[in-house]
Amino acid sequence: MQLKTFNVYDNQNKAVQDAFDMLTAKIHINNSQKKLKTFALTSCRPGEGKTSLAISLAISIAHSGWRVLLVDGDMRKPTASKRLSKETQMGLADYLAGKIEFSEAVSETNITNLFYFACGTDCLNPVELLCSARFQELINKARSRYDFVLFDTPALEIVADANIIASNVEATLIVVEAGSTSLVNIKRVKEQLENLNANILGVVLNKVKKHEYKRYFSSYNYFHKKNGFFKNLLKKKKTYSRVENVAAKENAAKL
Ligand SMILES: Nc1ncnc2c1ncn2[C@@H]1O[C@H](COP(=O)(O)OP(=O)(O)OP(=O)(O)O)[C@@H](O)[C@H]1O
Ligand SMILES: [Mg+2]
Repeated sequence: MQLKTFNVYDNQNKAVQDAFDMLTAKIHINNSQKKLKTFALTSCRPGEGKTSLAISLAISIAHSGWRVLLVDGDMRKPTASKRLSKETQMGLADYLAGKIEFSEAVSETNITNLFYFACGTDCLNPVELLCSARFQELINKARSRYDFVLFDTPALEIVADANIIASNVEATLIVVEAGSTSLVNIKRVKEQLENLNANILGVVLNKVKKHEYKRYFSSYNYFHKKNGFFKNLLKKKKTYSRVENVAAKENAAKL
């Protein structure tokens, strides 16, 4: 294991934490019989919130006492733009290229039970690497060592990487930016994933406007008033993730 310990920002906002706890709970409920361990988080377009969701979901699951490995499967982004590893860090690309072993690629984090597998360095051929036997090996090793393995991926409409990851893991969550991604786009990526035999677990509606969030959760203030959170509601332009139709393959099928 790499000696480096990553500091992961644990969001202290109660409403945001609640949304992720709810998503974690839904995954657990859905998972009680299926025992799915490997998940991909993807979206139609860039910037819909995959990385933010992957980090927050991983934290929430780790807080529940499960060992979680968060894998940065977006090998195309320069390391400098990464949320967790701004400096060069060996990881996925290096492991897949056979330069390092699994245990060397995994880093500890400041959050108990949360481990991080960086995207790695200088990756010129992500598709080739993801199609290799070494990727299968990685999934098998991660499966046997962790309770949950979350793959953050690039957007589906940009490159093939997320399609390959989604077709190799047990379940895929599609992150959708509220009020931005069209139904046509969602339907297209749904068909795209289904053609690859990916198991779509559900859709997470992200960046929901505060007033809409409150419309869905009418007792929202009940929990937060005491902590002074109510004051924050007056600030403009805050958005929260909201869990939408997780574990609802049936709903996804209606798209
Ligand atoms: N629920 C949210 N509310 C407000 N802003 C958000 C939310 N989720 C993500 N963001 C913001 O949206 C931007 C994009 O988020 P993020 O990097 O997680 O998206 P992404 O889908 O991983 O992007 P990319 O496809 O480029 O990897 C960031 O500035 C992030 O802070
Ligand atoms: Mg990202």
